[in-house]
Amino acid sequence: MVKLWRCEICGDPYIGETPPNNCPFCGAHGKYIKEAKDLNVNFNVELNEKDKANAEHALKVEISNAAFYFCAAEKTDDPEGKLLFKALGKVEAEHASIWKKILKLDSIPKGSESCFVRNRENLEDSHARETRAIDFYRRAQAESANERVKQIFGALVEVETDHLHLSEERLK
Ligand SMILES: [Fe+2]
Ligand SMILES: [Fe+2]
Ligand SMILES: [Zn+2]
Repeated sequence: MVKLWRCEICGDPYIGETPPNNCPFCGAHGKYIKEAKDLNVNFNVELNEKDKANAEHALKVEISNAAFYFCAAEKTDDPEGKLLFKALGKVEAEHASIWKKILKLDSIPKGSESCFVRNRENLEDSHARETRAIDFYRRAQAESANERVKQIFGALVEVETDHLHLSEERLK
């Protein structure tokens, strides 16, 4: 019997017999996936100045990373790399949409980034981008006093760490 599941981080729904190990949209870990009927997902958060500035920076980071990954998916010279960067681009675009909801924006500004033909250079750039994202999200999590904001930053530290492992594996 299929059920309707929902991710507590991005709020997106998923139909399946069992809950996915990771959210198929934002990559959040399984602990954030619950049956939709049991879950209340809140994007209506009162942001203090620091949280707002961090959320705005997070949106920029995710837009930039999504644009980079979609560029790399087009250009890279490795077939598996194309798939990896496409998957990463979709996840980062979903992260941008989390911040769009938190910031109550109507739309997400379009990003534009350059990327490489050589797969290894794209992997190196990915590694640097994910490292910066993890450091920033970890700091933003520590700086926030809001439980929901802390939860999202913390969940994204885990997801970006998963992304870091993907490039680490391939750069060995
Ligand atoms: Fe992200
Ligand atoms: Fe990432
Ligand atoms: Zn999600």
